[in-house]
Amino acid sequence: MLTQFYTASSIDGFIADPDNELGWLLSRDIDQGGPQAFDEFFADVGAFCMGATTYQWILDHHPDDWPYDLPCWVFTHRQFPATPRDVRFTSAPVPEVHAAMTDAAAGKNLWVAGGGDLVGQFHDHGLLDEVWVQYAPVALGAGAPLLPRHVELELVQVDRNRDFGCLRYAVVR
Ligand SMILES: NC(=O)c1ccc[n+]([C@@H]2O[C@H](COP(=O)([O-])OP(=O)(O)OC[C@H]3O[C@@H](n4cnc5c(N)ncnc54)[C@H](OP(=O)(O)O)[C@@H]3O)[C@@H](O)[C@H]2O)c1
Repeated sequence: MLTQFYTASSIDGFIADPDNELGWLLSRDIDQGGPQAFDEFFADVGAFCMGATTYQWILDHHPDDWPYDLPCWVFTHRQFPATPRDVRFTSAPVPEVHAAMTDAAAGKNLWVAGGGDLVGQFHDHGLLDEVWVQYAPVALGAGAPLLPRHVELELVQVDRNRDFGCLRYAVVR
């Protein structure tokens, strides 16, 4: 069981632009059957989590479309509307949530979807194993940071998937 950060990024390390938008990313070409594409990654995931800003982005852009058939924890102090989705809102300590996610995942991997500081909190507790980044061919100059921590990594896989440079790293402890 691995705890993995899988995300797309600009080459200068931002996962959203300063307006919290993803047009720079969604306009790029990727082969969903190709190397390091999301569907194959997600097939090995048993539970996932995200921060409140990421969840709000999904609510704003896909209000009726929740493509995930897995339990999801949303870290927040906000009050979100009730949802029929399997979403658990939490402000519990990260290790406690990680333990609950591990139980729910039944041996499969855990996906920390972001944002970057939430991923950093998992790393702060020694609970991050891998980082997968799909680099889009764009620099944004500013935005939501990929991973605002000092994290030592080992590069374990490099692929090209159409517009993207896809890098998979193991966290070095
Ligand atoms: N490029 C990609 O593939 C990709 C992937 C993921 C996300 N994104 C985008 O990147 C941006 C990420 O933004 P972000 O880094 O600001 O945000 P984020 O992690 O999605 O959300 C930050 C918020 O999460 C809550 N939070 C974080 N840690 C918490 C904790 N330990 N306990 C309780 N609540 C906690 C806080 O919300 P409260 O205000 O409720 O306290 C905090 O303001 C979004 O626009 C998202 O759409 C892009």
